[in-house]
Amino acid sequence: MLRLFPVCRSTLRLQRVTGASYVSHRGFGTQATRLPPDFTLFPNFFTVDEQCLLLKASLKKLDTMESGKFRRRRRQFLQSYNPQPSVNPVQALFLPDDFYDFQEGHFDGVIRRYREMHVTAWPEDMPEIIPLIERLRELHPNGEIQTHILHLASDGTILPHVDNVEASGTWIMGVSLGDERILRLERSDLPEERYEIPLSSGSVYIQKDVVRYDYRHSILQSGDGTHPPSEGKQRLSIMIRDRFISPTP
Ligand code: OGA
Ligand code: MN
Repeated sequence: MLRLFPVCRSTLRLQRVTGASYVSHRGFGTQATRLPPDFTLFPNFFTVDEQCLLLKASLKKLDTMESGKFRRRRRQFLQSYNPQPSVNPVQALFLPDDFYDFQEGHFDGVIRRYREMHVTAWPEDMPEIIPLIERLRELHPNGEIQTHILHLASDGTILPHVDNVEASGTWIMGVSLGDERILRLERSDLPEERYEIPLSSGSVYIQKDVVRYDYRHSILQSGDGTHPPSEGKQRLSIMIRDRFISPTP
């Protein structure tokens, strides 16, 4: 297996590879079915109700690690918050951007405007989550896993990178909730070999082996083409990875 990138830090992601600029060639209809090697997409894996449960549980986890200031702000806002019935029920679970303590991301980092955390247990008062997580387990190989949640602000983005090859194993699973964004995959040694995959809310993808090691992945700012990037909406992903097993000498 070809491992192209050295490990720079103990984080999950490697530093951005800079200096390249490419022409985009979007074409949703046909591109959606054109997938790179070792990539699998399950477009409607979770129903809207299930998406709401997963998103509620994830936001709850992230919210409890934030400072009192933001928690108080959210409590006050929620006292008079009454989302329009017409609003997409998944999207309605996100409060406006100002109510979350999004990190800007470092200049050499990969993610801009985000909150994230490592999850070892889901909220105990939400047992409905358990069968949903079990269904995800059926999609990937057995073994020890690590789970992260990553919440992107409306203008949040993930720049091209390969996940740190020594922080996790050979596959990466992503559950997308909220705004539909484009996942761009481009071969590290041949950037023209590129795929752009819309990730609808409720979809699940798995990238492993060739695409996991030899392609850089990024999440573009705004996905569905119905609004300019400046009017994007929030997205949360549940990222599940297998543990890195160091090769025995
Ligand atoms: C990451 C990542 C992709 C996603 O967290 O390293 O690339 O779908 N996430 O959120
Ligand atoms: Mn990644």
